[in-house]
Amino acid sequence: MSLRFLAVAALLAVAQATASAQPIVIKYSHVVADQTPKGQAALKFKELAEKKFPGKVEVQVFPNSQLFGDGKEMEALLLGDVQIIAPSLAKFGKYTPKLQVFDLPFLFDDIAAVDRFQASPTGQALLNSMTKKGIKGLGYLHNGMKQLSANKPLHLPEDAKGLKFRIQSSDVLEAQFKAVGANPQKLAFAEVYQALQTGVVDGTENPWSNTYSKKFYEVQKFIMDSEHGVLDYMVITNNKWWEGLPADIRKGLAEAMTESIAYGNKVAFIEAANYRQKVIEAKKAEVLPMTKEEIKQWRAAMQPVWKKFEPEIGKDIIAAALKANNP
Ligand code: LMR
Repeated sequence: MSLRFLAVAALLAVAQATASAQPIVIKYSHVVADQTPKGQAALKFKELAEKKFPGKVEVQVFPNSQLFGDGKEMEALLLGDVQIIAPSLAKFGKYTPKLQVFDLPFLFDDIAAVDRFQASPTGQALLNSMTKKGIKGLGYLHNGMKQLSANKPLHLPEDAKGLKFRIQSSDVLEAQFKAVGANPQKLAFAEVYQALQTGVVDGTENPWSNTYSKKFYEVQKFIMDSEHGVLDYMVITNNKWWEGLPADIRKGLAEAMTESIAYGNKVAFIEAANYRQKVIEAKKAEVLPMTKEEIKQWRAAMQPVWKKFEPEIGKDIIAAALKANNP
């Protein structure tokens, strides 16, 4: 065989391999609308990752529980059917009890305190608290502080007594509503509007972006400015898949992720007040302020919840979170 023939054959082989090289397809699935902080962060990640690796990486974003809803998305991630998801921190109870710290009612004064805790060494260590279970935390992402809502005003803890509340799948949130004599029901996010509309539940709790984008204000008469807890996310991936990526791609994707999270957080910080204003302007639900005294009573009613979950979460983690209120 001539050298020339060998060289041509080698060139052909390279050309063929290049032509058939398929891009790495990354499915990023979530349950909220595109316009929310999480929706915006996911689209930003697609933009940045595809710009960094043209033709090599393709990111497909699936919003609104289109691909997987609550309950199914974590399993799908572990099975490799989806590569990136960003569940609310309330939805990790099955995988680590430590993240329950984020659900403790009235723990954080505001979203800035949540941000400081997430950036602290304790917060950062929690990103790796599920690697043994196959889940890698790529970063925290904000949505915002939650508001209580129902078809009657909820100024005092006793106002919630006997009412049915939709909750995320969190034992802490279950205890939160039980502490005031209410009946919590774990329901997937995609079912919330209908559950409120048909009276399956009487009330719920949400940050403003979810209340606005999913139109929950159409099916709730009163929304309290309670800010009693936080709804944030952890963006996660399948650890094995992530570690199996070529090193340069993994590095570039990690950078794109950090940038997309910063973008989503900016949307969360800037837009929360706008979403609240839009809900008020829609004139369907009444947004009610709460006095310091009312908040004090709610806070006192929630103390048993802290006591109950302190052993599982860990005193040190709760202490680190509290410290973030006073920088
Ligand atoms: C909820 O179920 O209420 C939220 O976790 C939805 C979301 O992802 O913001």
